[in-house]
Amino acid sequence: MKYISPALTVMTAAARKAGRGLIRDFGELENLQVSMKGPADFVSTADKRTENLLVEELKRVRPGYTFLVEEAGIVEGPDKTHRFIIDPIDGTTNFLHGIPHFAISIGLEREGQLVSAVVFNPVTDEMYVAEKGAGAWLNDKRLRIAARRKLNESILATGIPFLGHGDTAVFVAELNAAMATTAGVRRFGAASLDLAYVAAGRFDGYWERGLSAWDVAAGILLVREAGGVITDLGGGADVLGGQILASNEYLHPQILKLLKDAAKSAKS
Ligand code: 2AM
Ligand code: CA
Repeated sequence: MKYISPALTVMTAAARKAGRGLIRDFGELENLQVSMKGPADFVSTADKRTENLLVEELKRVRPGYTFLVEEAGIVEGPDKTHRFIIDPIDGTTNFLHGIPHFAISIGLEREGQLVSAVVFNPVTDEMYVAEKGAGAWLNDKRLRIAARRKLNESILATGIPFLGHGDTAVFVAELNAAMATTAGVRRFGAASLDLAYVAAGRFDGYWERGLSAWDVAAGILLVREAGGVITDLGGGADVLGGQILASNEYLHPQILKLLKDAAKSAKS
């Protein structure tokens, strides 16, 4: 039976409300694509408006909680044991370009541990939720990580460095290694959905560098509750620190070694 905690009830309600606004904005964008300067400003306004709405909605029902959000940064509340980590539009570049692959991502930490997660793509109406110890769900379907054990049958998702960010040489070495050994590599452009797709068994693994906590907080819990393994790229527990590898227990060590060897070769 699907378990919806009180926290998930308020988080999904906030995400649905914000999602309705984003659908309107996304439709509006079609009219703006023809004007050169319009869309970017419009999207950054939509981003801020969505963030404000989410913070307001959640504050109303959970006054006192602390927030870590993409635009405003840390919003301290008197309750330091609870923290919402929010990305109002994950996949902003997709949104801006009219590509219907973006999501609202909300994670909740209690005493530093992720306990509740919501990732919502309002265009496809896919609501991913997870509650610590109670499983991960896509709408009403229980999620289970993929069972594949062989790299050559696996699809890996990743993020490609953009606008000169990150270490291109390391990424290219990692990509080369993945290209040579897996059934394929995908780059969809929204980290929260990449993790949700791993949880749903669509991708067999996902790695990326240069991420922020709000990109991945909710997705991490989805993967864990779907039975997956998630670490940083050193194999450690710093999963909110910017680099991540998510997969199942069989593939995770294989991918970790592949990426470590590739990164080492790029640096030598
Ligand atoms: P954002 O849309 O919330 O900024 C992983 O690639 C992450 O990088 C995405 O989840 C996305 O989060 C962020 N990102 C920022 N700019 C990007 C770009 N130009 N292309 C792809 N991802 C981008
Ligand atoms: Ca993001």
